[in-house]
Amino acid sequence: MERLPGFRDFYPEPVPARDAWSASVRQHLFAQWRHVAERYGFREYDGPPLEPLELFTVKSGAEIVGQLYNFTDKGGRDVSLRPEMTPTLARMAAAAERQYKKPLKWFAIPQLFRYERQQKGRLREHFQFNADILGEADPAADAELIALLIDSLRALGLTGEDFVVRLSSRTAWQEFFDRGAADRSRAYEFFQVVDKLEREAPETSAQRLDELGFTLAQVREFIERAEPTADLQAILSSLSARNLAAYVKLDYTVIRGLAYYTGTVFEAFDRKGEFRAIAGGGRYDNLLKLISGGKVDLPALGFGMGDVVLTELLRARGRLPAREGALDVFVLVADEAQRTASLGFVQQLREAGSRVEYPMTPAKWDRQFKRALELGATWTAQLLAAANGGAAVRLKALATREEFELPLADALGRIVSRAG
Ligand code: HAM
Repeated sequence: MERLPGFRDFYPEPVPARDAWSASVRQHLFAQWRHVAERYGFREYDGPPLEPLELFTVKSGAEIVGQLYNFTDKGGRDVSLRPEMTPTLARMAAAAERQYKKPLKWFAIPQLFRYERQQKGRLREHFQFNADILGEADPAADAELIALLIDSLRALGLTGEDFVVRLSSRTAWQEFFDRGAADRSRAYEFFQVVDKLEREAPETSAQRLDELGFTLAQVREFIERAEPTADLQAILSSLSARNLAAYVKLDYTVIRGLAYYTGTVFEAFDRKGEFRAIAGGGRYDNLLKLISGGKVDLPALGFGMGDVVLTELLRARGRLPAREGALDVFVLVADEAQRTASLGFVQQLREAGSRVEYPMTPAKWDRQFKRALELGATWTAQLLAAANGGAAVRLKALATREEFELPLADALGRIVSRAG
């Protein structure tokens, strides 16, 4: 039985094939994301993976609606697996914001589902680190969020030579559009043409722009001029103050595909331009109002960072964590007469926090030793027949092959102190 196309199996290390996904690499990403989010004072939330279909058709935009994994459930409800977290967050925050002091700084690591055409960096399921700030309209919040984005990539070992955050503004584009638009109600169509500028043939873009009252030359000139809005200027100086300005670049080719963005928008890319976007986000000041039917009106902004492109980039730059020794000690049971005492020792070690393995059934000594090596144990430990009333342990450090014999309590102390 095959798994569905675009879905992944995550194997334990060592993974069975070079291109297999690793559960421990995934854990590494999650741990770093959580760690950095907490450093910035963000609190974790989560929501259901299945939502009413309507939540996503309201304001995510045509592109994402075309990719929904939706169906009718046994109760006749139209439902969809979540393709993104932002609508769920908006619904949750709108329902409970009164219970929290503003601004809310919330993060989540949901698994998301999009029925996309499979290609490099795009699957039908991915995990996405989401960080959002709600209830703060000042661009100081935008700078704080972008600093968090930068630091979450740095925490994974990436540097300013590996990635850049391209910063733009829907406000700037909206003003540009309003100045020349043939029909002001078609702003989102215009944003979508700009979003696809780098991927579409110039003639196609030119023709679509012409229908909206613009020339391709006008649009290109606006991008090249790259005049920062007051908000973008404020964000840049806040990042400068943190010594993070080198990680960002003003770039009006970024506009974002999702329909709900209103102000600052940004995307993180690898510097060499080999991969798709690592992360994307921006301001969505009207979404809570829309989702709450006008009851709650909170400015908001956030980003999403996927695990697929990020893992590809970390692998390409040699920044995946080395498979560290997953075991502190392998307890050898050379003499079955020592099994009961050995089990007691195993238990004591585990209670003290050590990672311990031992042979569950009788096995030859050399097979046990080989297994200890395969598992990457730091130590082997073998209980010796109690002499002079006290149990003793033979400890061997597998890296140096040094051996000691010492009383059981001392062996325990030695292993536990090294393991910590
Ligand atoms: P998005 O740009 O659609 O934004 O996705 C953010 C990131 O998720 C992308 O840059 C990419 O790394 C990853 N991603 C998206 N789709 C896939 C896929 N099919 N396969 C693998 N990775 C993928 C959002 O989803 C917004 N809701 C982010 C946000 C949060 N905006 C405000 N708050």
